[in-house]
Amino acid sequence: MSDHYTRALTAANYIRSLHAGKPKLGIILGSGLGNFATQVEDSTTIDYGEIPGWPLSTVEGHSGKLVLGTIGGVGVAVMQGRVHAYEGYSMNEVTFPTRVLGLLGCTGLIVTNAAGGINTSYGEGTLVAISDHINLTGTNAALGPNEPRFGLRKGTGDRFFDMTAAYSPRLRKLAHTEAERQRIPLPEGVYIAVLGPSYETPAEIRAFRTLGADLVGMSTVHEVIVARHMGIEVLGISLVTNMAAGVLDRVIDHQEVMEMGRRVEAQFTSLVKALVPQVAGAIAAPGSR
Ligand code: HPA
Repeated sequence: MSDHYTRALTAANYIRSLHAGKPKLGIILGSGLGNFATQVEDSTTIDYGEIPGWPLSTVEGHSGKLVLGTIGGVGVAVMQGRVHAYEGYSMNEVTFPTRVLGLLGCTGLIVTNAAGGINTSYGEGTLVAISDHINLTGTNAALGPNEPRFGLRKGTGDRFFDMTAAYSPRLRKLAHTEAERQRIPLPEGVYIAVLGPSYETPAEIRAFRTLGADLVGMSTVHEVIVARHMGIEVLGISLVTNMAAGVLDRVIDHQEVMEMGRRVEAQFTSLVKALVPQVAGAIAAPGSR
């Protein structure tokens, strides 16, 4: 059995054999947001099942394709769907795609997700720039022997690594400026990650609010942890698909969570599409990666 790094490299080489372009920016699309991949030009679409070692999503609404090409002239690798730890995948499996994006040459990552709104100033359908996270999943993506070869440049790939500015302040600034220009409300918020797959209880949501969380979800933090391990700069955007348990006097329905993506699709697409060249410009410049 080959090691985790070699498996990720094998996947990256396979993808390279099918697509000559060089992606600079990875984009992970959360539940209900997969249609954004239709924005990719000169695209090569690869089913996850075709890529050696790539874990397959079992969740409805995650179609499972990697779309490579360009947006606004920028090389992108767009993940339509992701796997979650609650599906029974190990940390190495959950973060395998992010590792591969890094090995393909992505030095920036736009990670998106569906989240429950804890902060009552949000409404259903609000887009939120993630300012920080609380990892309450009980595990860590960088668990196990350290693999320094995942570091994309000097000073990355270390056993212990900084998470102070995990959600890049300069990329968040770009997102706020662009959102303002397009008159799309974009508050900031702290994302708390739970293992799932059950939604939370109202008591848990009250506790999470006390802890300082604004959003709750079951993804993202592990991808962001390995991205930071590799030295990839991250912008995180949540879509509040529902208010978290107990905030409103009703139950949380997965189908409604999925539908919210479609309702906000136009706004989400126009914001992220405009951000791609700006984020690519920022990550190409030296600074706070
Ligand atoms: N909780 C956890 N994850 C979620 C939620 C939620 O309310 N909505 C969408 N993903």
